Amino acid sequence: MTRNERFSVDGDVIVITGSSQGIGKTTAETLAADGAKVVVSSRSQEKVNAVAQEINDSGVPGEAIAVECDVRDRDAVEALMDATVEEFGRIDTLVNNAGASFMESFDDISENGWKTIVDINLHGTFHCAQAAGERMQEQGDGGKIINFASIAGTRGSPYMSHYGAAKAAVVNFTTTLSVEYAPHDIRVNCIAPGLVATPGVESQMGIAADSVDRDSVDRQIGVPEEMADIVQFLGSDASSYIVGETIVTKGVPDIGEGRDV
Ligand SMILES: NC(=O)c1ccc[n+]([C@@H]2O[C@H](COP(=O)([O-])OP(=O)(O)OC[C@H]3O[C@@H](n4cnc5c(N)ncnc54)[C@H](OP(=O)(O)O)[C@@H]3O)[C@@H](O)[C@H]2O)c1
Repeated sequence: MTRNERFSVDGDVIVITGSSQGIGKTTAETLAADGAKVVVSSRSQEKVNAVAQEINDSGVPGEAIAVECDVRDRDAVEALMDATVEEFGRIDTLVNNAGASFMESFDDISENGWKTIVDINLHGTFHCAQAAGERMQEQGDGGKIINFASIAGTRGSPYMSHYGAAKAAVVNFTTTLSVEYAPHDIRVNCIAPGLVATPGVESQMGIAADSVDRDSVDRQIGVPEEMADIVQFLGSDASSYIVGETIVTKGVPDIGEGRDV
């Protein structure tokens, strides 16, 4: 294998949750451009159909299918993994990208709001990892699970106590699962982004992707392509000696308290 081949995911079957927009969508496009067979998934069949069609019409070496799945729904998650195996025969990599948040002071977060955020970000990650992990173990030749936490899960971020708690749990879950899954050669790692200009961030904070100056030396906002590159690295053989880690990715200087999403 050449050095470049070690960074490739060509031919791999990769399930990406929450890929109708933002980091998930760009990740699906990036990996398909390298030759991966990607499964585009979110709560909206219509939206993921459009993303998959765009990929299939683009002439890239990879291909895409679209499967509707709310990661909070275990039956839907099982159906997502079954549809993947039915179409592509196996699962090499799961990208646990689906996530959501809203900003609210701790005193004003309702029980329902707290549970909803924990359900999507933590329980969704659990459902998908367990369902994909079971199939990877059946295949018997390893796999990769890449979770998405947040910098908000690694330190205090005001108005994000529900989200920060859920994402901090994802960081520990990554390390713990990586140890349990190591004997099966399933590598589990995590990405904890700082602020990234996605539609989710634009709707909450009004920051659009095209407003990001990637040449700025003190850039504090990332773009989805930069997250997709890290996913490709963690999903490839180039990261073979990285297990159970969380890659915190943010600009310089430190983006400061209260800026996290
Ligand atoms: N952008 C940032 O600054 C930032 C920073 C730190 C961490 N992150 C994390 O990175 C990941 C991607 O963030 P993003 O900014 O790209 O998000 P985004 O623009 O808000 O998009 C979220 C994606 O998740 C899907 N989704 C939401 N709830 C879902 C559910 N219950 N089941 C399945 N899919 C669901 C949405 O699709 P539908 O609406 O079609 O279901 C959409 O495709 C998330 O885990 C987020 O927490 C982002």
